[in-house]
Amino acid sequence: MTAEIIDGKKIASEVKKELKGRIGKLIDSGIEPSLIAVLVGDDPVSKQYVNMKHKACAKLGIKSRIVTLPESTSESKLLDLIGYFNQDNTVHGILVQLPLPDHINQLKINLAVDVNKDVDGFHPANLGKMLLGKPSFIPATPLGIMELLNRSGNNPEGKHTVILGRGELVGRPLSVLISLKSNGANSTVTLCHSGTKELGHFTKQADILVCAMGRAEMISADMIKPGAVVIDSGTTAVDDSTSEKGYRIAGDVDFESASEVAGYITPVPGGVGPMTIAMLLANTVSAAEKLAGKSDER
Ligand code: GUN
Repeated sequence: MTAEIIDGKKIASEVKKELKGRIGKLIDSGIEPSLIAVLVGDDPVSKQYVNMKHKACAKLGIKSRIVTLPESTSESKLLDLIGYFNQDNTVHGILVQLPLPDHINQLKINLAVDVNKDVDGFHPANLGKMLLGKPSFIPATPLGIMELLNRSGNNPEGKHTVILGRGELVGRPLSVLISLKSNGANSTVTLCHSGTKELGHFTKQADILVCAMGRAEMISADMIKPGAVVIDSGTTAVDDSTSEKGYRIAGDVDFESASEVAGYITPVPGGVGPMTIAMLLANTVSAAEKLAGKSDER
């Protein structure tokens, strides 16, 4: 069997095309959707991601600004900056790129972002609403994975989804989202993590296998049920002397062997990554629409 590739770039461009009309309407009514991205430190991978988000905004007509701060920035300075953008009515979305330096308390930062500008969906109030199945900003990567599944004809309803990794950005929120009693979700979930014994025992039972561990190419063909849908959310920088940057981004899945067994598979890059960006843009447009009174109360 050779798996069908789920093309994240193509699906992300469909999502972005749909956003264009909404952005046009906002601009016609005098509102230019706008996003602030805050980057603390100079981690090259974080820098690359923030630049990709910035470029995607520009392409679609969303105003975006990157605020770059040194690694030594104090927590209180970052909190002040967030407070400043919370007050600025021309700013609709605020994202603080993670990870943050160790001296900054991530929870304090997540709590500081205005709930209505929290386009990353990391504020505990938004995470709580998601847990309750109420409308909220949903973290972009799990939301992007839901779109990838549904738009590729792999509705997770009634399927067994096995998620590898309980991280706050992907695995944990996705375990909630994909098990909600709603259209395009309603899946039975197994959440595996570093404490799981005999990982292969669980992965082989997955109709849908979502890998979000951050362990380069660890999932091999023998761990996958024939015909399964494999979603690879891993993004680990591994040394690569043949690359101009000196590193490449590797997924959690050994793509070559896995694609011999799986029914559908996402590549890295070009799978989940473009969807994360598309859903961030969608959340930013929703935030601007909310301010314009054009969408339902969140
Ligand atoms: N770091 C890795 N993924 C993300 C994300 O989706 N949002 C932010 N803010 N930081 C990240």
